[in-house]
Amino acid sequence: MKKIITLLFSVLGISAFSQQTPIYLNPDAPVEDRVEDAIQRMTLEEKVAIIHAQSKFSSPGVPRLGIPENWMSDGPHGIRAEVLWDEWYGAGWTNDSCTAFPALTALAATWNPSLARLYGKSIGEEARYRNKNVLLGPGVNIYRTPLNGRNFEYMGEDPFLASVMVVPYIIGVQSNSVAACVKHFALNNQEKYRDHINVTVSERALHEIYLPAFKAAVQQGKAWAIMGSYNRYKEQHCCHNQYLLNDILKKEWNFDGVVISDWGGVHDTKEAINNGLDMEFGTWTDGLDFGRSNSYDSYFLARPFLNLLKSREADEKHLNDKVRRVLRLIFRTNMSPGINYGSFGSPEHAAAGRKIAEEGIVLLKNADNLLPVNIGNTKKILVVGENAVKPMTTGGGSSSLKVKYEISPLEGIRLRAGRKAEVKYLAGYESPATKEQDVKNAKEPQQKEINYEALRNEAATAAKEADIVLFFGGLNKNSGQDCEGDDRNSLELPYQQDALIEDLLKANPRTAVIIISGNAVAMPWINRTPAIIEAWYNGTEAGNAIAAVLFGDVNPSGKLPFTFPVRLQDNGAHAAGEYPGDGENEIYKDDIFVGYRWLDKENIRPLFAFGHGLSYTTFNYGKATADKNKITANERINISIPVKNTGTREGAEVVQLYISDKKSSLPRPVKELKAFQKIFLKAGEQQTLTFTIDKNALIYYDDIKKAWIAEPGEFEAWIGSSSADIKEKIKFELY
Ligand code: BGC
Repeated sequence: MKKIITLLFSVLGISAFSQQTPIYLNPDAPVEDRVEDAIQRMTLEEKVAIIHAQSKFSSPGVPRLGIPENWMSDGPHGIRAEVLWDEWYGAGWTNDSCTAFPALTALAATWNPSLARLYGKSIGEEARYRNKNVLLGPGVNIYRTPLNGRNFEYMGEDPFLASVMVVPYIIGVQSNSVAACVKHFALNNQEKYRDHINVTVSERALHEIYLPAFKAAVQQGKAWAIMGSYNRYKEQHCCHNQYLLNDILKKEWNFDGVVISDWGGVHDTKEAINNGLDMEFGTWTDGLDFGRSNSYDSYFLARPFLNLLKSREADEKHLNDKVRRVLRLIFRTNMSPGINYGSFGSPEHAAAGRKIAEEGIVLLKNADNLLPVNIGNTKKILVVGENAVKPMTTGGGSSSLKVKYEISPLEGIRLRAGRKAEVKYLAGYESPATKEQDVKNAKEPQQKEINYEALRNEAATAAKEADIVLFFGGLNKNSGQDCEGDDRNSLELPYQQDALIEDLLKANPRTAVIIISGNAVAMPWINRTPAIIEAWYNGTEAGNAIAAVLFGDVNPSGKLPFTFPVRLQDNGAHAAGEYPGDGENEIYKDDIFVGYRWLDKENIRPLFAFGHGLSYTTFNYGKATADKNKITANERINISIPVKNTGTREGAEVVQLYISDKKSSLPRPVKELKAFQKIFLKAGEQQTLTFTIDKNALIYYDDIKKAWIAEPGEFEAWIGSSSADIKEKIKFELY
């Protein structure tokens, strides 16, 4: 309506917003004009008030001027339940049950940027409906070790893949006038010692491996917020880190949004003032007495800052820069012209989550075509394993959700099988009971003795009678598994699952193993199992998605966003990298050789390679051709390859292009992912894909020159269906 009036008035030559109406309230005025107008109306106290929290997840606006509060929510897989004002505990609302979307590892495994856009748009709509203007996500810390308890919230081990996938997620979220807050900047690659560990990493690895996804989020995704991480770098906490926040993020990348602290990640007023932090959250301390409730006025960026300003020991220019950024956030979100009301828990969001889940599930192995399950001649299905029934949308730390519903794998299978087959369930193993997360006065649960042998024997006996056994295991969201706050302590499956899998296989070789996890696990039984699937944490529609893949309604097309090593020592962070450090310091000795880059360098065969994933159909790669064999740094080369679906059903293939630098002044990885396309082909259909490569795919970071270098010489483009299955190579020269 306001727009129509404005338009009408402007046709008549009159401004709807007369002299008396402040510019900052005019939604059609440029954001920067609104910011300047608002800031000059604010008192010093009002300015200091808006740069720190007033409750667990909100910060004040300027009530006198009608500028609204900021409300944040985790992130990154759904909109978290409302909590009490000053507590982590749930507030007990009855209208805050959300859609849980698949974990970000699952999204990354789709290798489909259009699904990242759908994800962002959908979760942004949920945030908007719940009046949240900042979504605390996505997370793009690089998967350095399979033990990191938070890998499931991130997008895998490769900076290029994470960069391509994070940008549309952000654009989708922000199309709802909700800011994406990209986290955790930076080098938060483990949970162990996360509050204080000081990371030492080469400038080169920082630029080539750990920063690119953040840079893409800022420069291409135009993220309006970023979250500093808990750990330290160059001996400074990353929430107030001169080099990361001021030099790189704000100066080099021109970030104009807000830097938000991780909850409780601020430790020093002067550093917070000077080193690039804009908003402080979660400190829960007055700087003297840890744990005093409602101490928001005592936050490092609250009264202590105000006092320094009043005594002129702090410069108001620092305050004004922070205030401008916070105002910009508000005008981009809660006071933006395009604001809508969002939508919540809708069938469309469930369908979006299901689509993402179905495309992210990875078929790791399928010998003798055990899968898909042929419902016509399968009468007795035995489902074994706690992960077939355990809710996976709760637990795991800050990404824990209160969901409208969650379809478990067992329910999904039962729904799909209907009356056509008998579906029997046995636990086979159990995990110890855990205390409920986010519930006030939650009691420590009574632990019962788990008789693993009896559970195992019962399942193995039943397996003998079944036409097929579907084992659901992996990790879960309990502490020490895929869970914030700590890391796993080994690559092995917990709760005696390996012994159970061996017994099931002995009883019935037609046993498929379905892993639910956000991390790689060891598989000592791999040669005896005909079929293995990685099914991730897939949210609300998890069970329907896995059933669709198991029964062949959906042809799997996910590819691994990280390597599965055979042993922990095959991973660079463990072989060379000093993980987890001595409690104070950790040196990333694996340097740029993270993930497949390490295995390539050491010539180690992975259990399953980065980029691996099978289909129920087959694809044939034809001969690759290039339009040139020499380029200058200003030119591009087009590389084409025909890909044909040679099977009998439609399917999708992710065609991956890696660049190999044949000779360079600095050591380089054997190959690095620089392009990919997901292609959908009908049975018998062929399409030719073209990749355009320019110098950005060829450069490396020289830490002495502090610059990206495109070094002339010979390169090869390797095209394949995984990092370990290269089909074609094309030579070309940069001169
Ligand atoms: C986590 C963040 C999260 C915040 C608020 C912190 O412990 O590291 O990722 O957004 O809590 O819940």
